[in-house]
Amino acid sequence: MRILALESSCDETAAAIVSDGREILSSLVASQILDHAIYGGVVPEVASRKHVESISALTRQALDCARLNLQDLDAIAVTYAPGLIGSLLVGVNFAKGLSFASGLPLVPVHHLRAHVAANYIAHIGLTPPFLCLVVSGGHTHIVDVTSFTHFTLVGRTRDDAAGEAFDKAARCMGLEYPGGVHLDKLAVLGDSTAFDFKRPCVSGSLYDFSFSGLKTAIVNLIHNARQKGESLSYPDLAASFREAVVEYLIFNFMRAARDLGHRKLCIAGGVAANSRLRERLTQECYKESLHLYLPPLDLCGDNAAMVGAQAYFEFLAGSSAGLSLNALASASLCD
Ligand code: KG4
Ligand code: ZN
Repeated sequence: MRILALESSCDETAAAIVSDGREILSSLVASQILDHAIYGGVVPEVASRKHVESISALTRQALDCARLNLQDLDAIAVTYAPGLIGSLLVGVNFAKGLSFASGLPLVPVHHLRAHVAANYIAHIGLTPPFLCLVVSGGHTHIVDVTSFTHFTLVGRTRDDAAGEAFDKAARCMGLEYPGGVHLDKLAVLGDSTAFDFKRPCVSGSLYDFSFSGLKTAIVNLIHNARQKGESLSYPDLAASFREAVVEYLIFNFMRAARDLGHRKLCIAGGVAANSRLRERLTQECYKESLHLYLPPLDLCGDNAAMVGAQAYFEFLAGSSAGLSLNALASASLCD
């Protein structure tokens, strides 16, 4: 079954064709990084306009790369939630137009479910149940993936996402947008024991996160030093901050895995590209003889191949939408 998938939830327009949820026939991403870099973050209206400009040509290219026409496809999939509403609406409306014109079924896909599904492409034998740490720019979730289409939320951030904390810290250090990857690279040069960031404590749940305290701590440290004219080692600061965030993520994730008896673990989302998170999780899972599945770096960030992968399983489970499908800025991945 061949699915044309579209993704436009934030600042990347993406189109892909995926066969049977596991094989990429083509996958293209038009990044808007340069358009937003001058503002230091995503400007929603600019993002929507850029999606409008790119989506038709990118879809044509995805078909050409796979040497297919619309008639060779079985369905059209699109990310409908969560994300920037103006950005989502571009993808949803375009997909509806294609579905209407071609008569192909329309499959709505939740963005975070798609991130999880990136792992099905990379690991052909991977099947639920497993526990997944979903870490992106807007979400930090521990998810019990009970089947391809059933998810239970085990833990979540109460405030900022891990990606947001990385981006804010990077911005304060004057690093380029988007900051997470640049902070990761700078951290390699620093001493992770130079600064002591305390592990946050969240009342009422063993698995929930809070990143706002860590974020404020690093922002204050930088601002105070600047006011006093003192210099800080940014490589040391980046290394210490990355270590604090990574150890915190791993602590809650491993605790949830132990308590729920999961022996198969996955990570997903843009922050899954973090080199220290991948390294430390690999070590911890090795120590406890757990199977760890890491998505390849090109499937961690936003792409449409992951949308096509999840759409396959959603469609098999009977999910499709009519032409009244709407986009949602927020939606639980469990519904
Ligand atoms: O999943 P994603 O591409 O978009 C959302 O759905 O939000 O995630 C983007 C987030 C950004 O916060 C970005 O800085 C972060 O992923 N990120 C990283 C790394 N690469 C991307 N964070 C830490 N280390 C990285 N290597
Ligand atoms: Zn994403």
